[in-house]
Amino acid sequence: MAALEPRDLAPALSVIRSHLARRQAEGDAIGREAALVLDLLADVTMSGDPIEPSGHPVLRHLTAALASSTDIATALRPIAAAFPWHYSYAPRADAPDLGQDIAFAELVGPVAPFRSATVCLGLLLIGPHRLYPHHVHPAVEMYFVVSGTASWTAGQVSRRVPPGSFILHPASMPHAMRTDAEPLLAVYTWTGEVSVASTYT
Ligand SMILES: [Fe+2]
Repeated sequence: MAALEPRDLAPALSVIRSHLARRQAEGDAIGREAALVLDLLADVTMSGDPIEPSGHPVLRHLTAALASSTDIATALRPIAAAFPWHYSYAPRADAPDLGQDIAFAELVGPVAPFRSATVCLGLLLIGPHRLYPHHVHPAVEMYFVVSGTASWTAGQVSRRVPPGSFILHPASMPHAMRTDAEPLLAVYTWTGEVSVASTYT
């Protein structure tokens, strides 16, 4: 897989921005977070060195995760396999192979290809029949589900969340996701304390 030029990401970033802009118009808490993310992304220089593909075992689920004909799946399909996918949590004794089935590709952030000290933007991919256990971070987190209906838990509330949905996790609220038969692919953003890593609770 060849390295991506920053301009190769422009169509997907444009589609993500358009979803954020539509959600912003609803004016609720998620809409306000979408507006903040759009504001902060406007200050990010989306250029620089080629982005080197990392490869990752989770990519065996990518074709299924990008099978739909939505605008976001269509924009991600040609490029997502070449993203810098990684899994950086400490190993868990109760799920020693979890890092084979969960990965993140951060595109914007403090150490991402497009640098920002105020906002992160990336993708999360989880394989089928997996629990992404409860974790917590001080950043405010928003997700936009690209594909896969999973069970999302934040605080005491669990619900099934279909593709096209936005989810907001307030700062330091523990949350978890459980996939069913489909992989879950979602865009995430962080604002606030973006330099403090997520940890399992
Ligand atoms: Fe999170």
